[in-house]
Parts: sequence; C-alpha cells; structure tokens
Amino acid sequence: MSREFDVIVYGATGFTGRLVAEYLAQTYPEGLRWAMAGRSAAKLAEVRGAVGVPGVVPLVTADAADPTSLRAMCERAGVVISTVGPYQLYGSDLVAACAATGTAYVDLCGEPGWMREMIDAHQAEAKRSGARIVFSCGFDSIPFDLGVLTLQEAAVTRFGRPASRVKGRVRSMKGGFSGGTAASLKATLAAIARKPSLGLLLADPFALTPGHRGPHQPTGMLPEFDATLNAWVAPFIMAPINTKNVHRTNFLLGQPWGDIQYDEMVVAGLGDMGKMAAEALAKLNPLGGDKGPKPGEGPSKEERDTGHYDLLFVGLMEDGARIDAVVTGDRDPGYGSTSKMLAESALCLLRDVEGEGGIWTPGALMGAKLRERLVKHAGLTFTAG
Ligand SMILES: NC(=O)c1ccc[n+]([C@@H]2O[C@H](COP(=O)([O-])OP(=O)(O)OC[C@H]3O[C@@H](n4cnc5c(N)ncnc54)[C@H](OP(=O)(O)O)[C@@H]3O)[C@@H](O)[C@H]2O)c1
Repeated sequence: MSREFDVIVYGATGFTGRLVAEYLAQTYPEGLRWAMAGRSAAKLAEVRGAVGVPGVVPLVTADAADPTSLRAMCERAGVVISTVGPYQLYGSDLVAACAATGTAYVDLCGEPGWMREMIDAHQAEAKRSGARIVFSCGFDSIPFDLGVLTLQEAAVTRFGRPASRVKGRVRSMKGGFSGGTAASLKATLAAIARKPSLGLLLADPFALTPGHRGPHQPTGMLPEFDATLNAWVAPFIMAPINTKNVHRTNFLLGQPWGDIQYDEMVVAGLGDMGKMAAEALAKLNPLGGDKGPKPGEGPSKEERDTGHYDLLFVGLMEDGARIDAVVTGDRDPGYGSTSKMLAESALCLLRDVEGEGGIWTPGALMGAKLRERLVKHAGLTFTAG
C-alpha cells in the first residue's frame, strides 16, 4: 500500500523522538519519504532546525487527545514510529487508529499492563486490517529478544534442540535515563495504586501470552550467587518487561523453544566484593527518585556517545551442556542505541519483512532480518557459539 509518507516520527519534539529524527536525517538523506509529527507545529519547526533536519522534511500535527487527528496522521503513513509516552497515558488512541487503518506501528513501550490491554483490545482488528503493531523496539526489548533468538538458533545448530534454561546476564552497561522513562515508571506505580490487580499481572512472566502458561520461572528479584558464572548477580530493572516479551516471542512463533525458563540479571562481581555489589545494586533506585530528569531531559550527547552495553546469554541443555551468545551495542542503551534500533525497526517493517497484521514482538515478526539491519546500521553485534 502506498501512502504519502514511508515513515512518520510521532513525538519528534521529545527527548528520544529528536534523536530518531536526527538519525533518519543523517542516515537516510535520500530515498526515504518521512515526516516529523507532534502536537505543536511551532515546536516541531524549532526542533527540526535545532537537530539539523532539512527544512523540506514536512511537519504533521496530531494530538494524542484528539483521535480524529491521529487517524488522519495514520492514513498518511506506511509506518508510524511513536515516542509519545508514557504510552499508558497517551498511546491508546494511536494504537486503535493504526489497527483501524492498517498502519504499521513501532514504539518504545516497556509498560506491560498497557501492552496487554492493547493486545486484548486490538489484536483481532489489527489482524483484519493488516496493521503490524510492534511494541518494545528499543533497548527493551530488542537486544534481549534477539539475543535469546540468536542463542536458540545456535543451540539447535549445535545440539539439535533449543536450550531449556536460558540466562540473560548484563555484563556491562553505561547510560542514563530520560524524563519520559521516569514518567512511565511513575505512571505504572500510580496505576497499580489505583488498581492493585495490575500488580499481579506485572509479576506474571506470562502476562503477554494470553491463554498460555509456561513452567515456573526464576523471579530474579533478589541478589544471588550464579553458579554458572561463578559470580554474584543482582536484579535488573528491565527484566520484568524483557522476560515477558521473550515468552511472547516464543508464543507467537508457536513455542519452538518449548517450555523455557528465562531470567535476566546484572553481573555484580566475584567473591565477597561481588556479593556486596549485588546487594548495593538491589537497593539502588536508578531513576534517581524525585531528583531524576523531567520530560524532555535525558543523558547528554557525551554520555550517549560514550555509552555501551554487553549482554551474555547462557543456554543450558538438560544434559548439562552449555552454549553462549553475546550481544553488544555502541552508544548508551536507552537513547543513543535505542533511537537507532527504533528507526531501523520501522525500516525493517517497511522494506524487509511482510507478515500478517497483529500485535507482535520484534523477535517474532522481524527476527533475523532485523538483526542483520542492526549489525549493518545500528552498531550492534551478535555472536554465538
Ligand atoms: N524502551 C526503551 O528502551 C525506551 C528508551 C527511551 C524511551 N522510552 C520510552 O519512550 C517514551 C518517550 O520518552 P522520552 O524521554 O523521549 O519522553 P519526552 O521527552 O517526555 O517526550 C514525550 C513526547 O510526547 C509528546 N506528547 C506528550 N503529550 C502529547 C500529546 N497529548 N499529544 C502529542 N504528543 C504528546 C511530547 O510532546 P511535546 O514536546 O509537545 O510536549 C514529546 O514529544 C517514554 O514512554 C519512555 O518510557 C523507552
């Protein structure tokens, strides 16, 4: 289907949206018909100039509180990239508009309560209209989703079957948080206070696999000694969303990995020092409490450029054999790397993969094609063996 624009970046005035716009302008100066969108034409024009996007790139206005404007925007786009969050506050009508108009959609959502609501409300309509809707196309959850996929491909190649126990371990990570991410966490805490049953859903590793439950999962909520790595590990703040997306990928692909057990933790160190570091990490509030960034704020360019991450995935076979995969990324995970992953996900939907309409994960819909694209353009590496 040919639309006026290949891609519309919605939320282009926000901290992450600006980075996505800047990346598209620099990486695809030719051959991509794209526009910047937001609720204020004046702010969009100011940001377009400030981030060096050429003045010929059109501006589209649409307000998250005005469904008619959202539908009109969707009808003009092949793929909508949305960085308008917290998604549970501002995202529902846009997903509804994409599902109704058959428009592809990618976002950075790490809010599983809202994602489950959207799956229940729009899966059938998206399937009917052909809209391919993909949440979590940033640091949560692409490197983890594709990391497990890469590990399982290698396990099947080497052992003839997937690993039944997979450990995601953050070996190193350098970066910070933005105001939008802090606002999303606050919105989730407020939603749990209003509706305590949401807490149960968020604690459920199978919250995003309606009608399917797998085996008991490790909680990853307390520091522990990981005998596989001979090191202490600590809870990882992104694990609650990533683990749910990994189980959803397995579910959407028809359970090729069987009943896996999967957790994600941060490697804190060896021996007594490692134990102390794991305990300290478990108590840390990485979002900085009330002193954290406000909407529109986030890590500086220098912090983004010097950031990085290194993730280990360990697959344990039932007979005790082990296989590893490693995913690395340049730039800080949440913004420098995330903005590239999000933009490349949109291009992957546009140019590399087809697939039925529905509410997808990056791994289930784009899998190896997205991995190739991220290696070629976005500074990620994937190795296994
Ligand atoms: N998963 C990941 O790895 C990851 C990484 C980064 C960010 N995120 C998520 O991405 C989202 C954005 O984060 P951020 O730090 O970039 O946020 P931000 O700087 O606060 O930007 C929010 C954007 O939403 C727009 N907006 C707010 N209300 C709107 C409305 N009624 N209509 C239209 N637009 C509206 C803002 O427009 P104005 O400029 O007009 O106010 C702005 O463009 C958050 O949900 C965050 O959690 C996830």
